[in-house]
Amino acid sequence: MTERNLLLLPGDGIGPEAMAEVRKIIAYMNAEKAAGFVIEEGLVGGSAYDAHGAAISEDDMAKALAADAVLFGAVGGPKWDDVPYEVRPEAGLLRLRKDLELFANLRPAICYPALANASSLKPELVEGLDILIIRELTGGVYFGEPKTITDLGNGQKRAIDTQVYDTYEIERISAVAFEMARTRGNRVCSMEKRNVMKSGVLWNQVVTATHKEKFSDVKLEHMLADAGGMQLVRAPKQFDVIVTDNLFGDMLSDVAAMLTGSLGMLPSASLGAPDAKTGKRKALYEPVHGSAPDIAGRGTANPIAMIASFAMCLRYSFNMVEEADRLEKAIANVLDKGIRTGDIMAEGATEVGTVEMGDAILAEFKALSA
Ligand code: IPM
Ligand code: MG
Repeated sequence: MTERNLLLLPGDGIGPEAMAEVRKIIAYMNAEKAAGFVIEEGLVGGSAYDAHGAAISEDDMAKALAADAVLFGAVGGPKWDDVPYEVRPEAGLLRLRKDLELFANLRPAICYPALANASSLKPELVEGLDILIIRELTGGVYFGEPKTITDLGNGQKRAIDTQVYDTYEIERISAVAFEMARTRGNRVCSMEKRNVMKSGVLWNQVVTATHKEKFSDVKLEHMLADAGGMQLVRAPKQFDVIVTDNLFGDMLSDVAAMLTGSLGMLPSASLGAPDAKTGKRKALYEPVHGSAPDIAGRGTANPIAMIASFAMCLRYSFNMVEEADRLEKAIANVLDKGIRTGDIMAEGATEVGTVEMGDAILAEFKALSA
């Protein structure tokens, strides 16, 4: 039987609650469908700091490197606000991204028909919205050196972050964007700030060259990132695939996420390059929402982004396309039935907690898989 090795890193805050709902789906797939998932578990973020004094232990890093895929919950919370910068909860996530070389972050922003009214924009602007943001994830200002705060000795300090991109980094992320575009609307919009940043100038040149060389069948457009942000809230449906750098991608994906009604809805996949021998990509799947410490432990968190992240895992790491489609359909059906967690609650709908939402999706998934 195929073995599918998963490392679960539930993390902090609502991470463990959301992950518990995915566990149920995995247990069902193993028991009824002989899916062969083998689960390992580890700690990341504040919970890892409490246990090991690091945002992720070497042992858990080794497990992440060995796994077929990592499922990640969320990290951070006020409890760890004052821990040293090097071991802050986010450092665990950044190390995973860097050491696994997960350079391509796929952030779909899909507006489920049942949720068009939950958006802060008019429903007609977001109904049927289906954008894919491809965010570069291992370069740019997140990792560029120098990254320092120095004392200037005159009562002033100077902080430096460095935005760096090499040609190959832009080539490989734009190739992912063009390839993804071919499987959907065949359009890519690249966003940078070439009007003020050298890295934006190079970004624009390399995306243009990669397009010309290998992907000229895809429609390519360029936008300054600030204008892109404006267009995202003005007329979001004009976009198909957006490709952008690490920092702009961080911000633009939160904007895009909110268009769909709630951050609690959106999954993401972070992928590495295909292995030369096996063709398999290293991968980590995580909801876009954070650890939401304010509601952690209450059983009210929305587990949909976490479950949808597992659907992306089925699709991209295990090529279980039918199962992924079914799980996504199960989520849509449950929303159609008016079952809602608090963050997406609407008049006339039934408000449920994390566990009930997970149960409803599992029941629907079972029915669709029968
Ligand atoms: C994200 C998050 C992370 C980031 C944080 C938690 C480090 O905001 O995945 O979007 O900035 O990349
Ligand atoms: Mg972010």
